[in-house]
Amino acid sequence: MADDRPFHWEYQEPPVEREAFRVEGGRPLRGEVPVSGSKNASLKLLAAAVLTGERCRFTNVPEIADVRVMVDTLRDLGVVVDHPGPNTYEVAAGDVDWLFVPLEAAAKMRASFILLGPLLARFGRVIISNPGGDRIGRRPVNLHVEAMERLGAEIAYRNGYYFARAPGRLRGGLVTFPDVTVMGTENAVLAATLADGHTTIRPAAQEPEVDDLITFLRKMGADVVRTAPDTIEVEGRRRLRGAEHRVIADRIEAGTFIVAAAVTGGEVTLRNAPCDHLGAFLDVMDRVGVSISREGDDISVRAAPVGEYAATDIETAPYPGLATDLQPPTAVLLSRAAGTSHIHEAIFEDRLEWLEELRRMGADVSIVDDHHASITGPCPLRGSEVEMSDLRAGASLILAALAAEGESVIHGAHQVRRGYENIERKFLDLGARIEHVSEG
Ligand code: UD1
Repeated sequence: MADDRPFHWEYQEPPVEREAFRVEGGRPLRGEVPVSGSKNASLKLLAAAVLTGERCRFTNVPEIADVRVMVDTLRDLGVVVDHPGPNTYEVAAGDVDWLFVPLEAAAKMRASFILLGPLLARFGRVIISNPGGDRIGRRPVNLHVEAMERLGAEIAYRNGYYFARAPGRLRGGLVTFPDVTVMGTENAVLAATLADGHTTIRPAAQEPEVDDLITFLRKMGADVVRTAPDTIEVEGRRRLRGAEHRVIADRIEAGTFIVAAAVTGGEVTLRNAPCDHLGAFLDVMDRVGVSISREGDDISVRAAPVGEYAATDIETAPYPGLATDLQPPTAVLLSRAAGTSHIHEAIFEDRLEWLEELRRMGADVSIVDDHHASITGPCPLRGSEVEMSDLRAGASLILAALAAEGESVIHGAHQVRRGYENIERKFLDLGARIEHVSEG
């Protein structure tokens, strides 16, 4: 009898090279660290380049695994992507051979779904894998799909793939979201730039990376304006042109290094820091008692003596609220603060699980449910053997290991390479003892 199970659920991710970080903790970090370009901005900018056949050039792109996945995905479509020097990428999407984004790309990186809008808008059709895979429901893309349908796309879902087509051109329209979605907003904006007529997107995500994308699209000749904080309006154009752009600095990487200085009792200056994009996070640092000063594009962090940090409650929210990507690093800091801090993770339901690993390192953590936890400090962290479950949790375990007494081994180092450029080099330059070890 034929096996009628959808074939893609059987997909197994290819084995990744096992690698771990070994960290000798307890040394204050001191010195200067340059902040790299934003991961989340770069991925969308590279995707935006397929809206034109002309060459686009990006500088300050971080050299990270997620960027390589996007570059490989574009090249598989037949797009020319050159890498003339470190942090610089040029994209020329004159000839596109395939309008197909396979499961392999989606399984490696959910953000590959950002190609839906631009491919559909420019070429009128695309087959794209559902990045939810077997974790369907946990990270859905229904809002992206509904937004494309509001713009006139016809989308069918079969065997784990969305078959999307736009008869004629996409049509401008009103795209409303029940909740704020960052990539959903970006997909709608990208699609609307080449649609016929006017599009209004509301509520539109207000993240700085969305505005960086808008800045680039305007350089390409797109008519995109944020007319109110939560509203983006787009007048579709027939064609866009090539453009150049320098990617904004990564606010999440900046926040990670601020906590690194704070939890190791150190003193660190971040160069090219995105000071204006860290408001809610810097408020938390202030409440906890981390001393921060700004001068131009630099942020200087001075740690308080052990025991002087104060507990505080935090809640993640869409921008301008506290970024969910900065919740894990902040939790490490809260484990060093006196008293009980409550964490409300309001955006994702799987972002508190990693606290179990922090508990193994000695933190007094209580996970209440998928969205709530508390941490009581200050607790002495001790070197341990732990496992990274994802990118942000991974970076936070490194922070905890840097603050801990003794040696830690952190497995799953590939997670952190997805989004942090040269992370161990940067920590080594600040005086950390960290090395990566291959695990065969
Ligand atoms: C982006 C960022 C990620 C960040 C997140 C929230 C990139 C590549 N990733 O992810 O680092 O943590 O914003 O700031 O830019 N949702 C749905 N249906 C959808 C889409 C989203 O229900 O179709 C839900 C999500 O499950 C989540 C919420 O909406 O609960 C917000 O997610 P969203 O803003 O879309 O996150 P991403 O854009 O995927």
